[in-house]
Amino acid sequence: MAKPVNNLIDLLLNDNIKALKPYESARRLFSGAGNKQQVWLNANESPFANDFTIDAERFNRYPDCQPPAVIDAYAAYAGIQPDQLLVSRGADEGIELLIRAFCTPGKDSVLICPPTYGMYAISAETCDVGIERAALNDDFSLNVDAIKAFKGKVNLVFICSPNNPTGTSVDKNQLLEVIEHFADSAIVVIDEAYIEFDKDSSWAAELTHYPNIAILRTLSKAFALAGLRCGFTLAQAPVIQALMKVIAPYPIPEPVAQIAAQALSSKGLVTLEQQVAVINQEKALLKSALAKFADVELVGDDKANFILFRTPQKSALMNHLVASGILIRDQSKQVNLDNCLRITVGNPEQNKQLLSEISRFFTLQTSTQEA
Ligand SMILES: Cc1ncc(COP(=O)(O)O)c(C=O)c1O
Repeated sequence: MAKPVNNLIDLLLNDNIKALKPYESARRLFSGAGNKQQVWLNANESPFANDFTIDAERFNRYPDCQPPAVIDAYAAYAGIQPDQLLVSRGADEGIELLIRAFCTPGKDSVLICPPTYGMYAISAETCDVGIERAALNDDFSLNVDAIKAFKGKVNLVFICSPNNPTGTSVDKNQLLEVIEHFADSAIVVIDEAYIEFDKDSSWAAELTHYPNIAILRTLSKAFALAGLRCGFTLAQAPVIQALMKVIAPYPIPEPVAQIAAQALSSKGLVTLEQQVAVINQEKALLKSALAKFADVELVGDDKANFILFRTPQKSALMNHLVASGILIRDQSKQVNLDNCLRITVGNPEQNKQLLSEISRFFTLQTSTQEA
């Protein structure tokens, strides 16, 4: 029998994986910390937990790869054709499928526009695909000239709108210029994970005009189903067919399909509208309350379900909130976001609790300084 080697894993591990740091998701950062008393405002989830029913009758069978009830309902919701849609394990899987289908490992690259959602880079790294960067301008608009300079050097251009974590939506003319510039060389991936909070800026209605766009959507945000892991890629049929080549045979578990179909029913869509309205209302209240603190500067825009702000007291405030059982997200490591924290809009009670803790923190700071 061959002798085991101590460094077998190092020996076998892919070079591109060796240096990889796993995505620090909100859940990983505070894993195991979740309990009912804590207020989770760190992952841009919905504060609402809706009820669903499950029918176990078909659990002995493998599910459809692309469950027709989900595809038809989401296509109708998005105003597109069923053959322009792929359902996957969250939008995150959509990101990975696009990279796997359209980028050759060790050879091709993707373009990202930081500060933005971290999974584009992580997925590219895991697939041994290069990452180019064209940082957003200071006002978080696209640096169109910088982006255009990557023509011929990248296969995918990731643009997040509304953008996480800046809450800004991308100007339609800017995006159009990018889409047209890359028409013969790259797919522009428009991540619309938060689109329900800024419906008018969606590109779904433009799908038929542009063979080189792919739109990412999810049930994790406005639909209040982050635990379901269900997302969508919208694109013309040839892109969808390419993704179908790399997706797993049974990516959508039967209970997930059942719940997604209920969330997309006419009753589910009424709930969605109502909950988005509550979140938007709460967001406006939170924003104006935060703006009143002398040491808080609101950053970016409010086109999603979160608020970004800068404070010189970033670390102390974050620690104070964590100690009070309120979890928010530090974004200060991102380009141009020094001292920035991101707060997901919670339910009215959670937001009140958050504001009262922030207020307590700044009062304590002032009294310490004065003492
Ligand atoms: C911009 C953006 N895209 C995609 C995702 C991932 O969505 P999903 O939960 O569907 O994988 C997130 C989650 O935070 C996000 O912020």
